[in-house]
Amino acid sequence: MSERVLEHFDLSGKTAMVTGATRGLGEVAATALAKAGAKVAVCGRSQADLERVSGKLRELGVESRGFELDVLDKAKVTGAVAKITAELGPVDILVNDAGVNYRVPVVEFPEEEWDRVINTNLKGYFLVAQAVAPGMLERGYGKVINMSSIFGGVGMVNQLAYASSKGGVNQMTKVMALEWAQQGVRVNAIAPTYFETELVTQIREDPERFAFINERTPMGRWGYLPELEGIVIFLASPGSDFITGQTIYIDGGWTAW
Ligand SMILES: NC(=O)c1ccc[n+]([C@@H]2O[C@H](COP(=O)([O-])OP(=O)(O)OC[C@H]3O[C@@H](n4cnc5c(N)ncnc54)[C@H](OP(=O)(O)O)[C@@H]3O)[C@@H](O)[C@H]2O)c1
Repeated sequence: MSERVLEHFDLSGKTAMVTGATRGLGEVAATALAKAGAKVAVCGRSQADLERVSGKLRELGVESRGFELDVLDKAKVTGAVAKITAELGPVDILVNDAGVNYRVPVVEFPEEEWDRVINTNLKGYFLVAQAVAPGMLERGYGKVINMSSIFGGVGMVNQLAYASSKGGVNQMTKVMALEWAQQGVRVNAIAPTYFETELVTQIREDPERFAFINERTPMGRWGYLPELEGIVIFLASPGSDFITGQTIYIDGGWTAW
């Protein structure tokens, strides 16, 4: 590939904010953005992991710091965005990733778990985007990437609140994209299948579920964590500047059935 082509994917000089960056897919997204040259604000609740991940990113040669952030707490969200702006510069790229799940049949689903999953996965994305977007709109440029799931588009038993939240994330992505399309702010979602993280340990350790997922996936396997990097860099970079409001599936063909 010529140097000229790679320039479309260069994030040098950009500041990225990644929620849920303390582990799992958020850590992969933060690492990908750093590899493409962005300064990265690593956001999450665990101080030890904030230090571990931001230290790892600094070793890649970019500026990176940890910022304590609970996406359920609006004051903490606005406080973190102000701190990031002061310390790393205005946010050009936001990855909304922080998410949780709870798996039981609909008739047993506890109301408090419905609230926790919906509030974290849906309201949390809204609160962070609402805190970051005004600066992007003022500067006329920004990229928002919402981590969705294949279960935002197709159903799955025992995932009432999770699938509902991810369907909401896909719709939220479209509404934000439409409102901000004329002001240079692109909003897209990534919808992964199963990748091995803490969120899915319970499924990974159940031989029957593990086998079912492999059989159900046309490519016959789960995703490998580094396979997420390309789509994150693409959606964060000028290479995708005419793409907005889309949900991109990274699922080994699951939703092609
Ligand atoms: N793994 C998969 O197979 C898969 C597939 C499709 C979509 N996804 C999506 O990818 C995203 C990340 O999932 P994952 O698998 O990487 O999960 P994970 O390993 O459990 O990581 C979840 C992340 O979210 C953070 N988080 C949770 N609640 C938070 C809150 N209230 N405030 C701030 N941060 C909070 C956690 O930070 P703490 O350390 O503070 O808890 C952690 O960094 C989620 O949106 C998930 O729905 C995952």
